[in-house]
Amino acid sequence: MDWLPDFLCYIILVVLLAHNIASGAQAEYSDHQAKPGCNSTCGNLTIPYPFGVEEKCYLDEEFLITCNYSYDPPQPFLMNSTSVMVTNISILGDLTINQLIAQECYYPPAHVFGPMASPGSNKGDTWSSLDLVSKFTVSESRNKFTVVGCDSQGFIGGSRLNSSGLENDYSSGCMSVCDYKGSLDATSCTGSGCCQLEIPPGLVFTNVTASSFNNHVYVWDFSPCTFAFIVEDGGFNFNSSYLDPNYMPERMPVVLEWTVATETSSSTIVCKGNATSYQTNNKFGYRCKCKEGYQGNPYLPYLQGGCQAIYALALRATMGMGCEMERVANQFKRIKYHFSRSR
Ligand SMILES: *[C@@H]1O[C@H](CO)[C@@H](O)[C@H](O)[C@H]1NC(C)=O
Ligand SMILES: *[C@@H]1O[C@H](CO)[C@@H](O)[C@H](O)[C@H]1NC(C)=O
Ligand SMILES: *[C@@H]1O[C@H](CO)[C@@H](O)[C@H](O)[C@H]1NC(C)=O
Ligand SMILES: *[C@@H]1O[C@H](CO)[C@@H](O)[C@H](O)[C@H]1NC(C)=O
Ligand SMILES: *[C@@H]1O[C@H](CO)[C@@H](O)[C@H](O)[C@H]1NC(C)=O
Ligand SMILES: *[C@@H]1O[C@H](CO)[C@@H](O)[C@H](O)[C@H]1NC(C)=O
Ligand SMILES: *[C@@H]1O[C@H](CO)[C@@H](O)[C@H](O)[C@H]1NC(C)=O
Ligand SMILES: *[C@@H]1O[C@H](CO)[C@@H](O)[C@H](O)[C@H]1NC(C)=O
Ligand SMILES: *[C@@H]1O[C@H](CO)[C@@H](O)[C@H](O)[C@H]1NC(C)=O
Repeated sequence: MDWLPDFLCYIILVVLLAHNIASGAQAEYSDHQAKPGCNSTCGNLTIPYPFGVEEKCYLDEEFLITCNYSYDPPQPFLMNSTSVMVTNISILGDLTINQLIAQECYYPPAHVFGPMASPGSNKGDTWSSLDLVSKFTVSESRNKFTVVGCDSQGFIGGSRLNSSGLENDYSSGCMSVCDYKGSLDATSCTGSGCCQLEIPPGLVFTNVTASSFNNHVYVWDFSPCTFAFIVEDGGFNFNSSYLDPNYMPERMPVVLEWTVATETSSSTIVCKGNATSYQTNNKFGYRCKCKEGYQGNPYLPYLQGGCQAIYALALRATMGMGCEMERVANQFKRIKYHFSRSR
């Protein structure tokens, strides 16, 4: 019966080969490659080129990720910042940060139960700003400006790029007022306990501030704080427990979009073999992508993890799998041999 494993192996190999090529299946090949010889992670974060931690490992200084090894695990920060924590980088053009929120809290002095509240111990500042270089913008499609509280207003100011790439001032805000806990919208952010605004395209600088109308004196027992922040869609789903005096958030996830160039001429230089440059949906810059039928990191040369033909990857994966099966089959044969001898 020795012929059986081998025979099966070849059948399966042929089937797999056909399947792999037909479905364009990918090997363990990752398009999240760092430049060869460079650290590809910092703590939990995988860092694909054009980003990098060390000199000569990033495209230019705007793609520097500062890895602070005094944290455990090490903590990545955007560029040379010491506060903008990076939590995810996608080679497709977005990057998630954990940004400090703005907050203002009031707690009444122990002996007073009336309109003489004094500012309590804020855990954070009443404003929080984010200053980006122009290759990074706050994603307008994936974030919302959000204010939480019952005697609350929040402002968002800053500057945004217009279609000629020049910065213009921007400011907006929303307010949320409620008299008593029973009047809240318990689970939706529609102005009672929580309000939300869309974000405009092209924001490169933001300053978010939290404030109140009456220092929360009429609502302090169920809503002592105002929180104001930009947050990733789905990263914050309001319910009334977020008004609770014990709820003390410090940071919220924010999605940024990155590009590698502002003109097509300079991005074609950045895009490597088998990759092309394209303009982003919001038209603020250009990125690279692999040509149809190719997969890999479009910012790296072919031999360093750049765009590879998908059929070649599938072939390599299938051959790898085939060899592995051959090895297992041989091992199986050896075990059978061993048993028949020891009998
Ligand atoms: C690369 O990462 C390791 C830890 O993962 C660290 O010890 C080393 O210093 C890093 N190299 C550089 C050049 O930062
Ligand atoms: C890193 O990942 C681990 C496991 O997924 C998680 O528990 C931890 O909170 C993460 N640390 C940071 C700093 O994101
Ligand atoms: C790393 O973080 C520590 C603690 O926050 C800080 O004191 C230090 O300056 C940081 N190092 C760098 C290189 O940013
Ligand atoms: C970070 O780098 C930018 C440009 O290289 C510089 O203008 C800025 O002062 C630096 N910030 C810090 C905190 O070192
Ligand atoms: C990182 O971002 C990518 C692309 O947006 C997403 O598919 C992935 O789930 C994210 N990873 C984490 C840990 O959030
Ligand atoms: C962009 O903003 C600049 C500076 O405010 C202004 O001069 C220019 O006309 C604006 N361009 C467009 C297309 O709106
Ligand atoms: C943000 O706004 C606050 C309140 O108006 C102001 O005090 C602060 O200086 C601003 N921060 C920046 C970086 O502009
Ligand atoms: C509100 O959200 C928190 C955190 O997601 C959850 O633990 C809590 O059960 C929710 N409360 C209600 C009333 O839905
Ligand atoms: C494009 O990919 C093919 C096959 O993967 C490779 O042979 C070729 O060298 C690549 N072209 C460039 C310019 O890197």
